[in-house]
Amino acid sequence: MRQQIIMDVDTGIDDSLALLYLLASPEADIVGIAATAGNVPAPRVAANNLAWLDVCRAPDIEVALGAAEPLAIPLRTTEDTHGPHGVGYAELPESARSLSHRSAAQMWVELVRERPGQIVGLCTGPLTNLALALRGEPELPRLLQRLVIMGGAFNHPGNTTPTNEWNVHVDPEAAKEVFDAFSAAPPDRRPIVCALDVTETIEMYPVHLALLAERAGSLPVEQVSDTDSPEARSGTSNPIVRHLTDAVRFYFDFHRTYDQGYLAHMHDPFAAAIALDPVLAATRPATVDVELIGTLTRATTVADWAGMWGREPNADIVIGTDPAAFFERMITRIGDFARAVYPPTTPEDA
Ligand code: RIB
Ligand code: CA
Repeated sequence: MRQQIIMDVDTGIDDSLALLYLLASPEADIVGIAATAGNVPAPRVAANNLAWLDVCRAPDIEVALGAAEPLAIPLRTTEDTHGPHGVGYAELPESARSLSHRSAAQMWVELVRERPGQIVGLCTGPLTNLALALRGEPELPRLLQRLVIMGGAFNHPGNTTPTNEWNVHVDPEAAKEVFDAFSAAPPDRRPIVCALDVTETIEMYPVHLALLAERAGSLPVEQVSDTDSPEARSGTSNPIVRHLTDAVRFYFDFHRTYDQGYLAHMHDPFAAAIALDPVLAATRPATVDVELIGTLTRATTVADWAGMWGREPNADIVIGTDPAAFFERMITRIGDFARAVYPPTTPEDA
């Protein structure tokens, strides 16, 4: 039985890899993609997902446009992190596929009502549209099979302010409404939260791109380097590998610019892997809330691990995983998928 998944994304370089990971996983059945404003505006997020579906020669999958702005504050985007169009240096051909006629929030609500207990929700962007869906359907936490969230930082510095993680920073009101809504969820329905504490251990390096190209039978196998010019573009034969390489190289440049090394944190594909296989991570229950009025700390996620607030846990926070095992899994899946979609043309290519 394939696992039905709603993706709620702000694509985004690592959101792109989350989509590729799920498209490459036979056990995943993406039943809808919600385009949430975050890394780039929502229409751009939607266009990026439609374009990736074309590149991957994927079947029709509903892509629904989310709200233009967060619940209570103006939208902040981050093209300096994800590139002018949100996919780094990649130049994805615009897709002729159509957007869904319904909004992202309507799609959430109608899908979980139609398929109660069958869908895993995966949020790798701000929680704006999930919060809007919860306002429309308060039963959503019980209608979802499970929710996986990439977001927050607990015993770990923020990546947007000293204590904020980007997805929560963009729409802290939405994040608070989501965690509050899951306060009454039974233990097996608590959101699994992939925060920076663990996702910043998922470090992608150029060698991973080379291994992926090799697995896909894509030639040449390029050695992406920090000496590459920003104008450099991949020339490898497999289109999925080529566009992925151009996307991720921008993320490498961004992390180096901020003294994190020539690497890229793969927050979102890690969360996608957890959505399909929660056993890949160790988790610990906690009560999570979001600071909304702190002068220095607004949008900070706070975890009460010890019941000091006297409130039931509303989250299972990921506290450990094996990054090497994740990359082995991601490279195998996406590499094999890329090879299957674009088989090497000659024996020498194989
Ligand atoms: O903080 C990392 C998260 O913010 C990732 O989901 C990235 O894509 C951005 O949305
Ligand atoms: Ca994201």
